[in-house]
Amino acid sequence: MTAPLIDPFARAITYLRVSVTDRCDFRCVYCMSENMTFLPKKDLLTLEELDRMCSTFVRMGVEKLRITGGEPLVRRNIMTFFNSMTRHLDSGALKELTLTTNGSQLHRFSEDLYAAGVRRVNVSLDTLDDDKFAKVTRWGRLKQVLNGIDAAQKAGLRIKINAVALKGFNEPELPKITEWCAQRDMDLTWIEVMPMGDIGNEDRLDQYWSLKDVRKEYENRYSVTDLAERSGGPARYVRLEETGQKIGFITPLSHNFCESCNRVRLTCTGELYMCLGQEDMADLRGALRDHPDTEQPLENAIRYAINLKPKGHDFDYSRQAVDGRMSRHMSHTGG
Ligand code: GTP
Ligand code: 5AD
Ligand code: SF4
Repeated sequence: MTAPLIDPFARAITYLRVSVTDRCDFRCVYCMSENMTFLPKKDLLTLEELDRMCSTFVRMGVEKLRITGGEPLVRRNIMTFFNSMTRHLDSGALKELTLTTNGSQLHRFSEDLYAAGVRRVNVSLDTLDDDKFAKVTRWGRLKQVLNGIDAAQKAGLRIKINAVALKGFNEPELPKITEWCAQRDMDLTWIEVMPMGDIGNEDRLDQYWSLKDVRKEYENRYSVTDLAERSGGPARYVRLEETGQKIGFITPLSHNFCESCNRVRLTCTGELYMCLGQEDMADLRGALRDHPDTEQPLENAIRYAINLKPKGHDFDYSRQAVDGRMSRHMSHTGG
Protein backbone atom coordinates (compact mmCIF):
# COMPACT_ATOMS: atom_id res chain seq x y z
CA MET A 1 0.00 0.00 0.00
CA THR A 2 1.16 3.56 -0.69
CA ALA A 3 0.76 6.45 1.76
CA PRO A 4 -2.87 6.87 2.86
CA LEU A 5 -5.05 9.65 1.52
CA ILE A 6 -5.39 12.49 4.00
CA ASP A 7 -7.16 15.71 3.04
CA PRO A 8 -6.24 19.27 4.14
CA PHE A 9 -8.58 18.99 7.14
CA ALA A 10 -6.83 15.83 8.38
CA ARG A 11 -9.69 13.57 7.30
CA ALA A 12 -8.60 10.14 6.05
CA ILE A 13 -10.28 9.21 2.80
CA THR A 14 -11.20 5.55 3.13
CA TYR A 15 -14.52 5.39 1.30
CA LEU A 16 -15.08 5.63 -2.45
CA ARG A 17 -18.54 5.83 -4.02
CA VAL A 18 -18.52 4.90 -7.69
CA SER A 19 -21.26 5.59 -10.20
CA VAL A 20 -20.95 2.91 -12.89
CA THR A 21 -23.71 4.29 -15.13
CA ASP A 22 -25.90 7.38 -15.33
CA ARG A 23 -28.74 5.25 -16.75
CA CYS A 24 -31.64 3.89 -14.82
CA ASP A 25 -34.73 1.86 -15.60
CA PHE A 26 -36.80 4.30 -13.47
CA ARG A 27 -37.15 8.10 -13.63
CA CYS A 28 -37.88 9.12 -10.04
CA VAL A 29 -39.50 12.54 -10.01
CA TYR A 30 -36.95 14.06 -7.60
CA CYS A 31 -33.99 12.56 -9.47
CA MET A 32 -34.55 12.78 -13.21
CA SER A 33 -36.73 14.45 -15.79
CA GLU A 34 -39.05 12.20 -17.78
CA ASN A 35 -37.07 12.47 -20.99
CA MET A 36 -33.52 12.39 -19.70
CA THR A 37 -30.65 12.46 -22.14
CA PHE A 38 -28.07 9.96 -21.03
CA LEU A 39 -24.37 10.03 -21.80
CA PRO A 40 -23.16 8.27 -24.93
CA LYS A 41 -21.89 4.84 -23.87
CA LYS A 42 -18.42 5.64 -25.24
CA ASP A 43 -18.03 8.32 -22.56
CA LEU A 44 -18.31 5.80 -19.74
CA LEU A 45 -15.28 4.26 -18.13
CA THR A 46 -14.97 0.69 -19.35
CA LEU A 47 -15.19 -2.11 -16.81
CA GLU A 48 -11.41 -2.54 -17.08
CA GLU A 49 -10.90 1.17 -16.41
CA LEU A 50 -13.24 1.00 -13.43
CA ASP A 51 -11.13 -1.86 -12.12
CA ARG A 52 -7.92 0.15 -12.54
CA MET A 53 -9.45 3.21 -10.86
CA CYS A 54 -10.88 1.32 -7.91
CA SER A 55 -7.79 -0.84 -7.46
CA THR A 56 -5.63 2.29 -7.33
CA PHE A 57 -7.87 3.83 -4.67
CA VAL A 58 -7.74 0.59 -2.69
CA ARG A 59 -3.94 0.65 -2.87
CA MET A 60 -4.13 4.21 -1.52
CA GLY A 61 -6.13 3.19 1.52
CA VAL A 62 -9.76 3.03 0.44
CA GLU A 63 -11.43 0.31 2.52
CA LYS A 64 -15.04 0.68 1.46
CA LEU A 65 -16.41 0.74 -2.07
CA ARG A 66 -20.05 1.56 -2.72
CA ILE A 67 -21.22 0.98 -6.28
CA THR A 68 -24.03 3.30 -7.35
CA GLY A 69 -25.53 4.90 -10.45
CA GLY A 70 -28.03 5.56 -11.96
CA GLU A 71 -28.97 1.99 -11.40
CA PRO A 72 -25.73 0.02 -11.15
CA LEU A 73 -27.35 -3.31 -12.01
CA VAL A 74 -28.47 -2.11 -15.47
CA ARG A 75 -24.84 -1.64 -16.54
CA ARG A 76 -24.02 -4.43 -18.98
CA ASN A 77 -21.78 -7.18 -17.52
CA ILE A 78 -21.59 -5.39 -14.17
CA MET A 79 -20.97 -8.69 -12.36
CA THR A 80 -17.60 -8.90 -14.15
CA PHE A 81 -16.65 -5.75 -12.27
CA PHE A 82 -18.01 -6.95 -8.90
CA ASN A 83 -16.19 -10.25 -9.36
CA SER A 84 -12.96 -8.43 -10.15
CA MET A 85 -13.23 -6.50 -6.85
CA THR A 86 -13.52 -9.72 -4.85
CA ARG A 87 -9.74 -10.09 -4.94
CA HIS A 88 -9.38 -6.94 -2.82
CA LEU A 89 -11.78 -8.36 -0.24
CA ASP A 90 -9.83 -11.62 -0.27
CA SER A 91 -6.54 -9.81 0.28
CA GLY A 92 -8.03 -7.91 3.24
CA ALA A 93 -7.29 -4.51 1.68
CA LEU A 94 -10.96 -3.85 1.08
CA LYS A 95 -13.25 -4.25 4.09
CA GLU A 96 -16.56 -3.71 2.34
CA LEU A 97 -17.93 -3.98 -1.18
CA THR A 98 -21.51 -2.81 -1.41
CA LEU A 99 -24.08 -1.09 -3.60
CA THR A 100 -27.05 1.24 -3.65
CA THR A 101 -29.78 0.05 -5.99
CA ASN A 102 -33.41 0.62 -6.85
CA GLY A 103 -33.95 -3.11 -6.39
CA SER A 104 -35.48 -3.75 -9.80
CA GLN A 105 -32.79 -6.25 -10.79
CA LEU A 106 -32.09 -7.84 -7.42
CA HIS A 107 -34.12 -10.92 -8.28
CA ARG A 108 -31.49 -11.64 -10.97
CA PHE A 109 -28.29 -10.64 -9.21
CA SER A 110 -28.59 -11.28 -5.46
CA GLU A 111 -26.91 -14.68 -5.38
CA ASP A 112 -24.07 -13.53 -7.62
CA LEU A 113 -23.57 -10.43 -5.51
CA TYR A 114 -23.35 -12.52 -2.36
CA ALA A 115 -20.87 -14.85 -4.06
CA ALA A 116 -18.76 -11.81 -5.02
CA GLY A 117 -18.52 -10.83 -1.33
CA VAL A 118 -21.29 -8.25 -1.04
CA ARG A 119 -23.05 -8.53 2.33
CA ARG A 120 -25.18 -5.39 2.59
CA VAL A 121 -27.29 -3.59 0.01
CA ASN A 122 -29.09 -0.25 0.21
CA VAL A 123 -32.39 -0.28 -1.65
CA SER A 124 -34.18 2.95 -2.57
CA LEU A 125 -37.90 2.62 -1.95
CA ASP A 126 -40.16 5.57 -1.25
CA THR A 127 -43.60 3.99 -1.01
CA LEU A 128 -45.34 0.64 -0.51
CA ASP A 129 -48.36 1.58 -2.58
CA ASP A 130 -48.43 0.19 -6.15
CA ASP A 131 -49.95 3.28 -7.74
CA LYS A 132 -47.77 5.72 -5.87
CA PHE A 133 -44.71 3.67 -6.72
CA ALA A 134 -45.58 3.84 -10.42
CA LYS A 135 -46.05 7.58 -10.02
CA VAL A 136 -42.83 8.42 -8.18
CA THR A 137 -40.67 6.24 -10.46
CA ARG A 138 -42.83 7.28 -13.46
CA TRP A 139 -43.35 3.64 -14.53
CA GLY A 140 -41.68 1.23 -12.10
CA ARG A 141 -43.46 -1.85 -10.76
CA LEU A 142 -43.41 -2.19 -6.99
CA LYS A 143 -43.84 -5.97 -7.15
CA GLN A 144 -40.57 -6.35 -9.03
CA VAL A 145 -38.68 -4.48 -6.30
CA LEU A 146 -40.38 -6.42 -3.51
CA ASN A 147 -39.45 -9.68 -5.25
CA GLY A 148 -35.90 -8.39 -5.53
CA ILE A 149 -35.78 -7.61 -1.80
CA ASP A 150 -37.06 -11.12 -1.01
CA ALA A 151 -34.42 -12.64 -3.26
CA ALA A 152 -31.71 -10.55 -1.65
CA GLN A 153 -32.71 -11.57 1.86
CA LYS A 154 -32.85 -15.20 0.81
CA ALA A 155 -29.36 -14.89 -0.61
CA GLY A 156 -28.16 -13.62 2.79
CA LEU A 157 -27.81 -9.92 1.99
CA ARG A 158 -28.66 -7.41 4.70
CA ILE A 159 -30.90 -4.63 3.42
CA LYS A 160 -31.17 -0.98 4.33
CA ILE A 161 -34.12 0.86 2.84
CA ASN A 162 -33.60 4.49 1.72
CA ALA A 163 -36.77 6.53 1.47
CA VAL A 164 -36.70 10.09 0.18
CA ALA A 165 -39.05 12.14 2.38
CA LEU A 166 -41.65 13.66 0.07
CA LYS A 167 -44.23 16.09 1.36
CA GLY A 168 -47.79 14.81 1.17
CA PHE A 169 -46.58 11.75 -0.72
CA ASN A 170 -45.07 9.22 1.65
CA GLU A 171 -45.91 11.27 4.73
CA PRO A 172 -49.04 9.21 5.49
CA GLU A 173 -47.12 5.98 4.95
CA LEU A 174 -44.50 6.58 7.61
CA PRO A 175 -45.89 4.02 10.10
CA LYS A 176 -46.55 1.46 7.39
CA ILE A 177 -43.06 1.72 5.88
CA THR A 178 -41.50 1.70 9.34
CA GLU A 179 -43.34 -1.41 10.49
CA TRP A 180 -42.79 -3.20 7.19
CA CYS A 181 -39.03 -2.67 7.60
CA ALA A 182 -39.17 -3.82 11.23
CA GLN A 183 -40.97 -7.03 10.29
CA ARG A 184 -38.28 -7.83 7.76
CA ASP A 185 -35.40 -6.81 10.01
CA MET A 186 -34.30 -4.03 7.67
CA ASP A 187 -32.90 -0.67 8.71
CA LEU A 188 -34.63 2.40 7.34
CA THR A 189 -33.14 5.77 6.47
CA TRP A 190 -35.02 8.87 5.45
CA ILE A 191 -33.32 11.28 3.05
CA GLU A 192 -34.11 14.93 2.49
CA VAL A 193 -34.50 15.96 -1.16
CA MET A 194 -31.37 17.62 -2.47
CA PRO A 195 -31.29 20.28 -5.21
CA MET A 196 -29.42 18.34 -7.89
CA GLY A 197 -30.06 18.36 -11.63
CA ASP A 198 -32.96 19.33 -13.85
CA ILE A 199 -36.13 17.37 -13.07
CA GLY A 200 -38.40 18.91 -15.69
CA ASN A 201 -41.63 20.43 -14.48
CA GLU A 202 -41.41 19.10 -10.92
CA ASP A 203 -40.66 21.61 -8.18
CA ARG A 204 -38.30 20.51 -5.44
CA LEU A 205 -39.65 23.05 -3.02
CA ASP A 206 -43.03 21.33 -3.37
CA GLN A 207 -41.43 17.94 -2.76
CA TYR A 208 -39.41 18.98 0.27
CA TRP A 209 -40.50 17.39 3.56
CA SER A 210 -38.13 18.42 6.32
CA LEU A 211 -36.65 15.59 8.37
CA LYS A 212 -37.34 17.69 11.47
CA ASP A 213 -41.00 17.03 10.74
CA VAL A 214 -40.35 13.36 9.98
CA ARG A 215 -38.70 13.08 13.36
CA LYS A 216 -41.66 14.76 15.02
CA GLU A 217 -43.92 12.17 13.39
CA TYR A 218 -41.84 9.44 15.01
CA GLU A 219 -41.90 11.20 18.36
CA ASN A 220 -45.69 11.41 18.18
CA ARG A 221 -46.02 7.69 17.53
CA TYR A 222 -43.06 5.95 19.18
CA SER A 223 -40.56 6.27 22.01
CA VAL A 224 -37.49 7.61 20.27
CA THR A 225 -33.94 7.40 21.66
CA ASP A 226 -31.03 9.19 19.99
CA LEU A 227 -28.06 6.98 19.18
CA ALA A 228 -24.52 8.34 19.35
CA GLU A 229 -23.30 6.10 16.54
CA ARG A 230 -22.32 7.91 13.31
CA SER A 231 -20.73 5.37 10.88
CA GLY A 232 -18.60 8.17 9.40
CA GLY A 233 -21.53 9.02 7.15
CA PRO A 234 -24.17 11.70 6.94
CA ALA A 235 -26.89 9.76 8.76
CA ARG A 236 -27.95 10.34 12.35
CA TYR A 237 -29.75 7.47 14.01
CA VAL A 238 -32.50 6.94 16.55
CA ARG A 239 -33.90 3.75 18.02
CA LEU A 240 -37.63 3.06 18.29
CA GLU A 241 -38.31 1.30 21.56
CA GLU A 242 -41.51 -0.37 20.34
CA THR A 243 -39.88 -2.14 17.38
CA GLY A 244 -36.22 -2.14 18.48
CA GLN A 245 -35.45 -0.72 15.05
CA LYS A 246 -32.80 1.79 14.04
CA ILE A 247 -34.00 4.71 11.91
CA GLY A 248 -31.54 6.95 10.06
CA PHE A 249 -31.97 10.57 8.99
CA ILE A 250 -29.84 12.05 6.21
CA THR A 251 -30.18 15.82 6.23
CA PRO A 252 -27.77 16.99 3.57
CA LEU A 253 -28.68 20.62 4.12
CA SER A 254 -27.18 20.59 7.57
CA HIS A 255 -23.40 20.50 7.90
CA ASN A 256 -23.27 18.19 10.87
CA PHE A 257 -21.43 15.38 9.11
CA CYS A 258 -18.92 17.24 6.95
CA GLU A 259 -16.27 17.41 9.66
CA SER A 260 -15.99 13.62 9.75
CA CYS A 261 -16.40 13.10 6.00
CA ASN A 262 -14.33 10.15 4.81
CA ARG A 263 -15.64 9.86 1.24
CA VAL A 264 -15.13 10.94 -2.34
CA ARG A 265 -17.14 10.11 -5.45
CA LEU A 266 -16.09 8.85 -8.84
CA THR A 267 -18.50 9.53 -11.69
CA CYS A 268 -19.18 7.08 -14.48
CA THR A 269 -16.98 9.21 -16.76
CA GLY A 270 -13.98 9.25 -14.43
CA GLU A 271 -14.38 12.57 -12.65
CA LEU A 272 -13.63 12.68 -8.98
CA TYR A 273 -15.95 14.85 -6.89
CA MET A 274 -14.53 15.64 -3.51
CA CYS A 275 -17.97 16.57 -2.16
CA LEU A 276 -21.51 15.79 -3.29
CA GLY A 277 -22.55 19.38 -2.71
CA GLN A 278 -19.72 21.19 -4.53
CA GLU A 279 -18.92 21.61 -8.21
CA ASP A 280 -15.15 21.15 -7.85
CA MET A 281 -13.90 17.99 -9.46
CA ALA A 282 -10.78 16.46 -10.94
CA ASP A 283 -10.89 14.58 -14.23
CA LEU A 284 -8.97 11.36 -13.63
CA ARG A 285 -9.73 9.76 -16.96
CA GLY A 286 -6.80 11.35 -18.81
CA ALA A 287 -4.31 10.16 -16.19
CA LEU A 288 -5.71 6.68 -16.66
CA ARG A 289 -6.14 6.52 -20.45
CA ASP A 290 -2.90 8.26 -21.37
CA HIS A 291 -0.85 5.87 -19.25
CA PRO A 292 -2.01 2.31 -19.83
CA ASP A 293 1.14 0.76 -18.29
CA THR A 294 1.57 2.67 -15.06
CA GLU A 295 -0.74 3.92 -12.33
CA GLN A 296 1.71 6.55 -11.06
CA PRO A 297 0.11 9.48 -12.95
CA LEU A 298 -3.30 8.37 -11.69
CA GLU A 299 -2.02 8.18 -8.11
CA ASN A 300 -0.54 11.67 -8.48
CA ALA A 301 -3.80 13.02 -9.88
CA ILE A 302 -5.76 11.48 -7.01
CA ARG A 303 -3.43 12.92 -4.39
CA TYR A 304 -3.64 16.34 -6.03
CA ALA A 305 -7.44 16.13 -6.04
CA ILE A 306 -7.70 15.07 -2.40
CA ASN A 307 -5.74 18.16 -1.50
CA LEU A 308 -8.66 20.18 -2.88
CA LYS A 309 -11.36 18.51 -0.80
CA PRO A 310 -13.47 21.31 0.69
CA LYS A 311 -14.39 21.58 4.33
CA GLY A 312 -18.10 21.20 3.67
CA HIS A 313 -20.86 21.36 1.11
CA ASP A 314 -22.66 24.32 -0.40
CA PHE A 315 -26.28 23.21 -0.68
CA ASP A 316 -29.06 25.65 -0.13
CA TYR A 317 -32.58 26.08 -1.28
CA SER A 318 -32.25 29.49 -2.84
CA ARG A 319 -33.59 29.76 -6.37
CA GLN A 320 -30.03 30.00 -7.63
CA ALA A 321 -29.18 26.59 -6.23
CA VAL A 322 -32.36 24.97 -7.44
CA ASP A 323 -32.21 26.39 -10.95
CA GLY A 324 -28.60 26.55 -11.79
CA ARG A 325 -25.60 25.84 -9.70
CA MET A 326 -25.97 22.16 -8.90
CA SER A 327 -26.74 21.30 -12.48
CA ARG A 328 -25.50 17.72 -12.45
CA HIS A 329 -27.79 14.87 -11.49
CA MET A 330 -27.29 12.63 -8.51
CA SER A 331 -27.17 9.70 -10.95
CA HIS A 332 -24.04 11.11 -12.55
CA THR A 333 -22.21 11.64 -9.27
CA GLY A 334 -23.58 8.55 -7.59
CA GLY A 335 -25.82 9.71 -4.76
P1 GTP B 1 -23.20 4.25 3.92
O1 GTP B 1 -22.42 4.20 2.67
O2 GTP B 1 -23.25 2.92 4.60
O3 GTP B 1 -22.85 5.41 4.83
O4 GTP B 1 -24.64 4.48 3.44
P2 GTP B 1 -25.24 5.76 2.81
O5 GTP B 1 -26.56 5.92 3.46
O6 GTP B 1 -24.33 6.93 2.75
O7 GTP B 1 -25.32 5.30 1.32
P3 GTP B 1 -26.50 5.48 0.32
O8 GTP B 1 -25.97 5.24 -1.04
O9 GTP B 1 -27.63 4.65 0.76
O10 GTP B 1 -26.78 7.01 0.49
C1 GTP B 1 -28.00 7.50 0.74
C2 GTP B 1 -28.01 8.96 0.39
O11 GTP B 1 -27.33 9.69 1.36
C3 GTP B 1 -27.26 9.33 -0.85
O12 GTP B 1 -27.96 9.08 -1.99
C4 GTP B 1 -27.16 10.78 -0.66
O13 GTP B 1 -28.42 11.31 -0.92
C5 GTP B 1 -26.88 10.88 0.79
N1 GTP B 1 -25.48 11.01 1.05
C6 GTP B 1 -24.59 10.00 1.13
N2 GTP B 1 -23.36 10.50 1.36
C7 GTP B 1 -23.49 11.84 1.43
C8 GTP B 1 -22.54 12.91 1.63
O14 GTP B 1 -21.35 12.72 1.79
N3 GTP B 1 -23.05 14.16 1.59
C9 GTP B 1 -24.37 14.39 1.38
N4 GTP B 1 -24.77 15.66 1.34
N5 GTP B 1 -25.26 13.42 1.22
C10 GTP B 1 -24.84 12.16 1.22
N1 5AD C 1 -32.29 14.23 -3.38
C1 5AD C 1 -32.25 13.26 -2.43
N2 5AD C 1 -32.11 11.97 -2.70
C2 5AD C 1 -31.98 11.63 -3.98
N3 5AD C 1 -31.80 10.43 -4.54
C3 5AD C 1 -31.70 10.61 -5.88
N4 5AD C 1 -31.84 11.90 -6.20
C4 5AD C 1 -32.02 12.57 -5.03
C5 5AD C 1 -32.18 13.92 -4.68
N5 5AD C 1 -32.20 14.88 -5.60
C6 5AD C 1 -31.68 9.22 -3.73
C7 5AD C 1 -32.34 7.98 -4.25
C8 5AD C 1 -31.51 6.91 -3.60
C9 5AD C 1 -30.20 7.53 -3.32
C10 5AD C 1 -29.08 6.90 -4.07
O1 5AD C 1 -30.34 8.88 -3.71
O2 5AD C 1 -33.66 7.83 -3.88
O3 5AD C 1 -32.05 6.49 -2.37
FE1 SF4 D 1 -33.10 5.67 -10.76
FE2 SF4 D 1 -32.48 5.92 -8.21
FE3 SF4 D 1 -32.70 8.07 -9.73
FE4 SF4 D 1 -34.85 6.67 -9.11
S1 SF4 D 1 -33.52 7.77 -7.68
S2 SF4 D 1 -34.34 7.45 -11.15
S3 SF4 D 1 -34.11 4.64 -9.07
S4 SF4 D 1 -31.18 6.50 -9.96
